[in-house]
Amino acid sequence: MAHEISDLVTLLPQTNQLIGLFSIIRDENTPRSDFVFYSDRIIRLLVEEGLNHLPVEPKVISTPTNEKFDGVLFLGKICGVSIVRAGESMEKGLRDCCRSVRIGKILIQRDEETALPKLFYEKLPTDIDSRFVFLLDPMLATGGSAILATKVLINRGVKPERIFFLNLVAAPEGIEAYVKAFPSIKIITGAIDKGLNDKKYIIPGIGDFGDRYYCI
Ligand code: PRP
Ligand code: URA
Ligand code: MG
Repeated sequence: MAHEISDLVTLLPQTNQLIGLFSIIRDENTPRSDFVFYSDRIIRLLVEEGLNHLPVEPKVISTPTNEKFDGVLFLGKICGVSIVRAGESMEKGLRDCCRSVRIGKILIQRDEETALPKLFYEKLPTDIDSRFVFLLDPMLATGGSAILATKVLINRGVKPERIFFLNLVAAPEGIEAYVKAFPSIKIITGAIDKGLNDKKYIIPGIGDFGDRYYCI
């Protein structure tokens, strides 16, 4: 079972398996191919946990043995929205679980000097206001990027309680800022770290996730 830190924050179970995966991707000496492979495994766990938060209704199933099974049926439509670039790494994990899922993109970059987020581009499913949205970004540092992206979603008519923010590593500062800005949006994370350094990088963290996944 995932650990409910609060009504709004769910932490993946801190099993030896998960800590082992994080030990690989946090290691500065891990080559890119391993970084991608083991990040993808954590992303898959996050997506699976995110799906647990969607509402369902009871559905009785008939099985080939002429017996009944008390099952459930997912209610509603979903989509993913990645915060480009690093968030795009999470799209495949979502696609692997939700066939032909629609995916929107919001391009936000942190200024390297100030760490303040800047919005460059958004392209979202036209009917996003009728969907549950998995917002995808592996790193929650100051919270600036995720807050800006979430404002874009809300401006497009998405109800806050239909947004689930999936992320690999969060700083307490980012969680606090995000929860304060959106007191009804759930965060599902793989790790809550110690804090931020003077460059607003998460510590102990991973470094620059986008660079490690795509470039170096
Ligand atoms: C990273 C990360 C988040 C943001 C987190 O993206 O993927 O979007 O920083 O920081 P914050 O919580 O302080 O806003 P970055 O701007 O480095 O771009 P990238 O995805 O291209 O690496
Ligand atoms: N973006 C990253 O990729 N890593 C951090 O630690 C902070 C922002
Ligand atoms: Mg970014």
